[in-house]
Amino acid sequence: MASVTSAAVAIPSFTGLKAAGASSSRVCTAVKLAPAPTTPKLAIKASLKQVGAAVIATAASALLATNALAAEIKLGADDGGLAFVPSDISVPSGETIVFKNNAGFPHNVIFDEDEIPSGVDAAKISMSEEDLLNGPGETYSVTLTEKGTYSYYCSPHQGAGMVGKITVN
Ligand code: CU
Repeated sequence: MASVTSAAVAIPSFTGLKAAGASSSRVCTAVKLAPAPTTPKLAIKASLKQVGAAVIATAASALLATNALAAEIKLGADDGGLAFVPSDISVPSGETIVFKNNAGFPHNVIFDEDEIPSGVDAAKISMSEEDLLNGPGETYSVTLTEKGTYSYYCSPHQGAGMVGKITVN
């Protein structure tokens, strides 16, 4: 079906271009006039609709996938406040958590070695202290598999209360 339709589109276009010669305005006319029969037009419309549906379906599944596999935490509140938003979340084990620079940066994400499940290496899940997210939209992602509660902070703004908690279930 799809290949037949695209052939029907391609042939009149080529004819139009060949016939048009030098003038570009004539190209438009030729292309417009070329697909005369009604049946191919309907076929084209139908195929465009199908393409549209396919695109919508893809977008929807991408959205679902995003929701299922990643939690997003903003670095800095929309009003510029020095906070993680949301500052307290629960995620299933293995879900990716994406920290996204939003406002009031630079920020970073440091897990508190004394307030994470035993056996988890804080250095492995934290950014390094010197490492900062400086630009808007920059991200840091971490995947936590060990169940329990994780406390973390932003080292430049810990004193201002920029701290958060993640519970992994
Ligand atoms: Cu910060």
